Amino acid sequence: MGPLLGLAKAFCGPALARSGTLTRLQTWVRPLPTRLYHLDGCNQDVLAIAQCLSKEGSNVVVMTGAGVSTPSGIPDFRTPGSGIYDNLKQYRLPYPEAIFDISYFRQSPDAFNTWAKEFFPGLRYHPNLAHFFIKLLHDKGKLVRLYTQNIDGLEVLTGLPHEQVVHAHGSFNSASCAACGQDADLDEYKQSILLNQNPRCACSEKAPIKPDIVFFGENLPDRFQMFQEDTAFSDFLICMGTSLEVYPFAGIADAVPRKVPRLLINRTLVGSFGSREEDCLLLGDLVEQVIQLCRALGWEQDLFDLKNAYDKEKQAGQ
Ligand code: OAD
Repeated sequence: MGPLLGLAKAFCGPALARSGTLTRLQTWVRPLPTRLYHLDGCNQDVLAIAQCLSKEGSNVVVMTGAGVSTPSGIPDFRTPGSGIYDNLKQYRLPYPEAIFDISYFRQSPDAFNTWAKEFFPGLRYHPNLAHFFIKLLHDKGKLVRLYTQNIDGLEVLTGLPHEQVVHAHGSFNSASCAACGQDADLDEYKQSILLNQNPRCACSEKAPIKPDIVFFGENLPDRFQMFQEDTAFSDFLICMGTSLEVYPFAGIADAVPRKVPRLLINRTLVGSFGSREEDCLLLGDLVEQVIQLCRALGWEQDLFDLKNAYDKEKQAGQ
């Protein structure tokens, strides 16, 4: 076993220990309950955090979840009331996460397809300041990689190069048969979804076609494995807008060495944040916190310039 894999195994626990590879998307009981960790365990001083990020953070790993896109109008999954899992009653699912379960989808694709029609990337949602903050980190030469669970594609609309992004839960950039794996024509797939059809493969099983996003029960893309090396050589981690409920993605936060400062920007304390001496926290609305952090970094104008340039280009294209 290589030293990096050994390190990852030590930190990421049972997923690696059992299979020797981090490929399956699974929900896990967290190693320790969140309530053991406290806000008091985190540095919440934005000026001190900014100072640390400008000093230490030349190899920043960023990890994001659905909370980053709620300011763009896309609901997250688990926020009580507004989250997707609280609003699926009409589909009569056996349990909310079934909408993204590969076995359930093969039997009943309707619920997912209806959701996909609403949230098909590139149709009506745009990146917000939280996405542009990640682009700014790249422009300042600090970003090693963005690991995102999101499938809305908003990160790359900011101009962030594809090689800087790992779509850990896949994307809508391609589609294939849920049984035989045969690639499907993306435009045809998209048109069928928009016309409320349930597109199916011509194979003997006539199985439903799905975008190549990772469903529960499927493998993560190979590129996800880059997190082992990226975290080993990182000197700052930023985690934004995720409940850290889903593994192996959530394990990235624990894979950085203990001496590396970890900054959580979120509405609630999640995962193991608060358990390490170097942990930092900006609690509250993501966009507000990002603006404050950029102000403390002296980057506020740069942040708004990025967003304004995007908006201008968008308007000119209409
Ligand atoms: P969740 O809905 O589980 O978590 C979103 C987090 O973002 C929560 O902690 C919210 O409090 C926080 N949040 C939302 N809006 C915010 C805002 N404006 N400001 C600050 N914080 C905010 O979403 P994920 O963690 O992304 O997988 O969920 C992980 C995975 O579970 C998803 O990729 C998806 C889902 O099942 C699949 O479907 C395969």
